[in-house]
Amino acid sequence: MTEGDRNDDTTQADMVELAVELMEAAVRRETDGTRLGVLISGRGSNLQAIIDAVADGRLIATIAVVISNNPDAGGLERARRAGIETVVVKHTAYRSREAYDAALVAELQSRRVHLVCLAGFMRLLSPRFVEAFPERVLNIHPSLLPAFPGLHGQQQAWDHGVKVAGATVHIVTPELDDGPIVLQAAVPVEDADTADTLAERILVEEHRIYPEAIGIVLAGGWRIEGRRFVARGGAAVGDSR
Ligand code: GRF
Repeated sequence: MTEGDRNDDTTQADMVELAVELMEAAVRRETDGTRLGVLISGRGSNLQAIIDAVADGRLIATIAVVISNNPDAGGLERARRAGIETVVVKHTAYRSREAYDAALVAELQSRRVHLVCLAGFMRLLSPRFVEAFPERVLNIHPSLLPAFPGLHGQQQAWDHGVKVAGATVHIVTPELDDGPIVLQAAVPVEDADTADTLAERILVEEHRIYPEAIGIVLAGGWRIEGRRFVARGGAAVGDSR
C-alpha cells in the first residue's frame, strides 16, 4: 500500500463519517430529535444550566416542556422566565407509580419529546416509563457512580471520607442510578472543605457536564456495549476536560 492509497482510505473514511453525520442530522430534524423534556422537583439549577447552554448556542436543542411533580419547585419559575412551557403533574393525584408514570409519558409524548432529562426529579421511575423512551432518559447524579447512589450523594461521599468526589451523567435504566455512564467529572476533596463547600464545587461540575452530555447524546453515533457508553469513533467518554 502506498502513501497515496492510505490517504485515499483516510479521505474515504472521513467522507463516510461525514455522510453518516449529515444523514443523522437530517433524521434528527425530521423527527424533532432535538426536543427535550426536563423533569424537576426542586430549585432547578441544572435546568438553568441547560436553559443557558441552549440560549448561548452551546447546546443545539429545544426545551419543549419542563414538568415538575412539585408545584412549588423553584425551577418552574426559571422555565417560565425563559418562556418554556411548564406542567405540574402531582404524584399525589395518582394511585400507583405506573399510573403516574403513564401520565408523565403522555405529557412528554404529546409534545414530541425525544430526550428526557431528569434534573433533580425526586421520583423513582417505573420500567414502563423507561421503556417508553429507550436509551432516551438521562440523569445527573452528584457522585462518581457507582459510588454513593441514592439520596445525598455528596454527603455520602463526604461522610465516607473520599479524596475525590464528583458528578455523573448516565442513561437511566429501571435500576436506581445504574445505567451506562455518558460523562463524569472528578472533584478533589480539599482539607478546608465542609460537606457544603464540596457539594457547591460538585454542582459547578454538574452544570458543566450535563449540557455537554445532552449534546453528545443528541448528536448520535454512539452505542451501548454492555455497560459502556461508547461515543462516535469508538472511544468511551470519560471526564470531559
Ligand atoms: C443535583 O445535585 C442533582 O445532581 C441531583 O439533584 C440535585 C438537583 O439540583 N440529582 P437542582 O434542582 O438541579 O439545582
